[in-house]
Amino acid sequence: MLRLLPSIAIALATMGVAGGMLSKVIEPTAFEWNIPASFPRPAVPADNPMSVAKVALGRHLFYDRRMSVNGQQSCASCHRQELAFTDGRARSVGTTGETHPRSSMSLANVAYNTALTWADPRARALEDQALVPMLGAHPIELGLGGREAEFLRVVQQDSVYRQLFASAYSETENVYTTKHVVRAIAAFERTLLSMRSPYDKYRYGGEANAISESAKRGEAFFFSGQHGGCFQCHGGWNFTGSVRFEGRADVEPSFFNTGLYNLKGASSYPAQNTGVHGVTGRAEDMGKFRAPTLRNIAVTAPYMHDGSVLTLDAVLDHYAAGGRTIANGRNAGVGHLNPNKAPNVDGFTLTAQQRRDVIAFLESLTDSTFLTDTTLSDPWRRRPRR
Ligand code: HEC
Ligand code: HEC
Repeated sequence: MLRLLPSIAIALATMGVAGGMLSKVIEPTAFEWNIPASFPRPAVPADNPMSVAKVALGRHLFYDRRMSVNGQQSCASCHRQELAFTDGRARSVGTTGETHPRSSMSLANVAYNTALTWADPRARALEDQALVPMLGAHPIELGLGGREAEFLRVVQQDSVYRQLFASAYSETENVYTTKHVVRAIAAFERTLLSMRSPYDKYRYGGEANAISESAKRGEAFFFSGQHGGCFQCHGGWNFTGSVRFEGRADVEPSFFNTGLYNLKGASSYPAQNTGVHGVTGRAEDMGKFRAPTLRNIAVTAPYMHDGSVLTLDAVLDHYAAGGRTIANGRNAGVGHLNPNKAPNVDGFTLTAQQRRDVIAFLESLTDSTFLTDTTLSDPWRRRPRR
C-alpha cells in the first residue's frame, strides 16, 4: 500500500476514489528526472525506486560529516560539487589522514557507469559501492566500520533525519538501517546528471554557436580515429566506455592499459595500482583501468587513477607519445613498450593549433549548470552548524 501525504489522502477520500485504485491514480512521491530529451534515463534497481524524499535523504547523508569516525569528513569531502564531485588531489586523503592509493572520481552521470571505481569489474551497484567509503578499512575513508550502530543512533536522534527517513521509507519498524542509508545515497547519486555543457547545447540542442570554431575542430580531431582514437574508449554521449541505462541495464564494462607505466619486473604498474589485475590476479589484466567520462574534465585535474598527470596538456603528451616515459626513479620505464598496452594508444603528432583545439573541445564539456546546481549542493549549509 502506498503511503499518501495526508492532504492528498484526504482530497482523494473526499473525491470518493476507491483505495485499490489509488496507486494508479497518484504516486505521492513521484520522482521526475530532469533530463534533456536526447539522453536516456538511468537504470534504477527494482528494489530501490526513486522518490523525491529518498533523494533528499541521500543528499543530507552525502554531505553529513557525522558519517565519519571523527566527524571530519563526508562523501562530499572527496567529491566536491564545484570540482564535478572530485577532490582536486592526486590521491584522496581519508578522515584519519590515510592516503588512498587512487584519485577521487567525478560522480557526473555515475548512474550510467557499467562498473564503478577505477578498475573493479565486480563493482556494479551504487548501493554496494557506498559501503566501501563508509565502512572500508583499507584504506580508511570515513572509517565507520564497526560503528554503524552509533551513526544510526545519531541519525535517529536528529529531527531532520526523523522526518526524512519517515518520508523516504514506509517501514514502521526498523527504518534506521545501513541498507536504507546506502539506498538513499544511491538515489541521490543517480540525480548527479551533467548534460547541459556548451557542447551539449551545440551537439544536441541545435545551438550552432554554443562552442568556438576551435572546439569544433577539436571535436573532429577527437572523433577522427586517426589521432589516438580518443572516442574509441571515451565514446558516446557520456565520453566513457560502455554505459547502461533504462531498458539496457546489463552491459559489460571495458578496461584498458594506456601505457602510463612500464616498470621492470613482473608487475609493469606500481604494486598498489595494477588495475583490474589487482582484482583478478591475471597477467592480461595488468594496468587495465576504466576510461572515465571526460565530461567536466577541465575542472577535475590532476588526472588518471593516481593523479600522476597534472594537466590536459600533459594528457595529450602522454597519448601523442603512445604511452608515457618516466626517465628516473622507482617508476622509470617506457610506457609505450608496455606489452599490455591497448593497440590504439600508438602515438600521433599534433600541431600547436590542434592541441589548442582538442583542449578547447574538452573545455566545452564543462557543465557550469551541474557545478552550481543548488539541488545538488550541501543541504546543511542553510541550517545551524553541526
Ligand atoms: C577519502 C576520500 C573519499 C571519500 C570520503 C569518499 N570517496 Fe568516493 N571515491 C574516492 C576514491 C579515491 C575513488 C576511486 C576508488 C577506487 O578506484 O578504488 C572514489 C570512487 C567513488 C565512486 C565511483 C565513481 C565511478 O565513476 O565509478 C563512487 C560512486 C563514490 N566514490 C561515491 C562515494 C560515496 C557515496 C561516498 C560517501 C559514502 C564516498 N564516495 C566517499 C574517494 C572518496
Ligand atoms: C585504449 C583506450 C583509450 C584511448 C584510445 C584513449 N583513452 Fe583516455 N583514458 C583511457 C583510460 C583507461 C584512462 C584511465 C587510465 C588510468 O588512469 O590509468 C583514460 C584517461 C584519460 C583522461 C584522464 C581522465 C581522468 O578523469 O583522470 C583523459 C583527459 C583522457 N583519457 C583523454 C583522452 C584523449 C584526449 C584521447 C585521445 C587522444 C584518449 N583519452 C584516448 C582510455 C583511453
